[in-house]
This record gives sequence, structure tokens and C-alpha cells, in this order.
Amino acid sequence: MSLLFDPINFRQVTLPNRIAVSPMCQYSAHDGMANDWHLVHLGARAVGGAGLVIVEAAGVTPEGRITPQDLGIWKDEQIAPLKRITHFIEQQGAVAGIQLAHAGRKASTWRPWVNKHGSVAIAQGGWETVAPSALPFDEHSQAPHALSKEHITQLIEAFAEGARRACEAGFKIIELHAAHGYLIHQFLSPLSNQRDDEYGGSFENRTRFLMETIKAVQQAWPQQYPIFVRISATDWAENGWNIDESIELAKRLKTLGIDLIDVSSGGLVPNAKIPVGPGYQTGLAARIRAESGLATGTVGQITDPHQAEHVLRTEQADLVLLARELLRDPHWPLHAAKALDTPVAWPPQYARATSRTNPMREEPDYTNSASGTSD
Ligand SMILES: Cc1cc2nc3c(=O)[nH]c(=O)nc-3n(C[C@H](O)[C@H](O)[C@H](O)COP(=O)(O)O)c2cc1C
Repeated sequence: MSLLFDPINFRQVTLPNRIAVSPMCQYSAHDGMANDWHLVHLGARAVGGAGLVIVEAAGVTPEGRITPQDLGIWKDEQIAPLKRITHFIEQQGAVAGIQLAHAGRKASTWRPWVNKHGSVAIAQGGWETVAPSALPFDEHSQAPHALSKEHITQLIEAFAEGARRACEAGFKIIELHAAHGYLIHQFLSPLSNQRDDEYGGSFENRTRFLMETIKAVQQAWPQQYPIFVRISATDWAENGWNIDESIELAKRLKTLGIDLIDVSSGGLVPNAKIPVGPGYQTGLAARIRAESGLATGTVGQITDPHQAEHVLRTEQADLVLLARELLRDPHWPLHAAKALDTPVAWPPQYARATSRTNPMREEPDYTNSASGTSD
């Protein structure tokens, strides 16, 4: 039996395996509302056997969206279409999670395939951005407004309201997006946070926004369901947020009752030199896990079933998240099961896909679809 297909518990939620669909923006929503694209995209990956399907970054306020086409969770009307998705994911035996996000100074940008740099103008559907300090992301971006304390309090409340809506929509796991240079990360890093009040300066102060957000979210989210936090373990930039601070943060998150830290990296500053390659962020997850005792998720160029299994066996992480490989192959988990000699049933509707005999002649064995993985 492979570890990758060994179920794992977080609080009262059991993931049937340790493969998660990493959150991936689809830039395909109108007014933040999920639609058929999201249902089919996410549903296909649940059909493909992932144990956890994490819905893309959902803006907790309209201004928190990266692009005008991002998903949102800032109003109750957004609950029903999300509920349709969680229902379908659960019907496939997977668990539905969602990432709660605010893009801060990286908000109001063009969706990637439009191929335009910088901010979307207000006349074109964009908006003014906010951040801990009035420092733009790069030379193409608008300068954000530095957040007032009153506005900070409102944003913390917006995360909590997002958590409440996520629960109503049927999600069993939420992930707070504190990575990739978005708002929470902007507070963490001294490169983007130059405040001189209690939200800037010392480690204690730079982590305050995240800590207060977690406490507010915990009030709004059922105790029996887990909360994950995604971080960028390092900015890969001089004088930026680094792995030592990440380890210290993980210790504090553990004390607060966070269930898993999902370890990514980069995104805070343009032109960071990131040593990209297979499993390039797994070492960061391993260090955080070893030194903080908090469960970790690892993400980043994980494409091979044996690689994923190795990461778990060597106790570098507890959960393996895949993004682009699951775009290339939504059935990656089912193929991985075969590669790791683990019997996992294909959905009965697809069971004959695993047989190479004449499909019109064969009498399928509907009683044991698991047998399909062994041929
Ligand atoms: C199309 C696309 C959209 C993404 N959107 C998000 C997102 O909403 N939230 C997030 O934390 N990361 C996002 N990411 C990053 C992925 O979750 C993942 O961390 C990254 O792609 C590295 O994993 P991979 O090598 O398996 O693709 C996105 C990546 C892609 C390719």
C-alpha cells in the first residue's frame, strides 16, 4: 500500500488520499460568481481521483480580486453556485476546500492570456488597490493606498465572513492565502511592509494581520473542520521574508491550532531568482515540518507518482499538491495509483477505460471496478 493513497485525517475531515488539487485561478467568473466552467474544471479533477480539491483564490472583497474575472466570496449570492461544486466533488468521494484571498497591491490586473502588463484602469473595470504601505509591485502597477487601521479591521472581518460563506457552501477545508505576494504576504515581508504602527516593523508586528485574521476566521468556521495557511516560505530576495521567519511563523500557527501549512515561495517582488526545478519547494516544507512540528503540504513541479510517494515516505510533507500536472492530466491520481501498485477504483462510468479488450464485445464487470487498475 502506498502512503500517497493512505487516507489522512485533519480534525474530523478524512481525505481519502494525500493528493490535493492546488488552487488555480481560472479567471473565468463574472462578478465573482462560480459558473459551469468552475464546476466542470473542479469536478473533472475530483473524478480523476484527487483526495482534496481546493478551489482557486476567492476574493473576500471585490477589491481583493487579482483580476476582474476572479472568483469571489464577498456576498451571499456567491454561495449557491459554489454549493453545486462542493456537492459534486463530495459525490466523487473527494473533499472540497477553498482558498480565501485578498490580492492587495497585486489586485486589479489583467487576466494572463490578455497579455497586458500593469493595472486595469477604472474605466475598463478595474479599481484602486490597497496594501500595508503605498509601494507598487513593479513599474507597471498602480501605487496602492496604505491601509488605515479601520480598513485593516474591515478586511479581517471580510476574511471571517468569507469563511462563514465557505461553510454554508459546503466546504470542509479553508486555506488562507498568505503567499505569492498577495495582501497577507505583503504584511509579512519587510520589503512590502514599511508601516511604523503595530502592523509593521518587528516580526511580531508584521505577522499581526495574519494572526488576527486567523483568530477571526476561527470564530466563523466550525471547530471540527481544518484551516490551512499557504505561505511563501521565502521571498528569494535580499532582506525579504525568509525560511527562518517561516519556521517561527509555523510554530506560532501550530499553537493557534492551524492544521497544515502549505509551503510555496516567491511572488512578492518581480525578478526574484527562484531555483525552479522538480520538487524545488519540497526542501522548504521539510525544514518547516521538522523544526515546527506542524503538518506541511508541498507544491511545485511534483509530477511523478514515485516522487510524490518519496516526499511522504521521507516525512518531508503530509500532503502533496499538484497544479499544472493536474491541468495536463486530470486523471493523474488514478494513473499514480496504478504506478504505485495500489488498487483504486475508477468511477464506474469510466471503469472500461482501463480495459484494452474490444469494448463492444466485453461484458464489463460492474461489481468490481477496482480490478480495472491492475491490467
Ligand atoms: C493557472 C494557475 C493558477 C494559479 N492560481 C493560484 C491560486 O489561485 N492560488 C494559489 O495559491 N496558487 C495559484 N497558482 C499556483 C499553484 O497553486 C502552484 O502553487 C504552482 O503552480 C506550482 O505548482 P505546479 O508546479 O504543480 O504547477 C496557480 C497556478 C496556475 C498554473
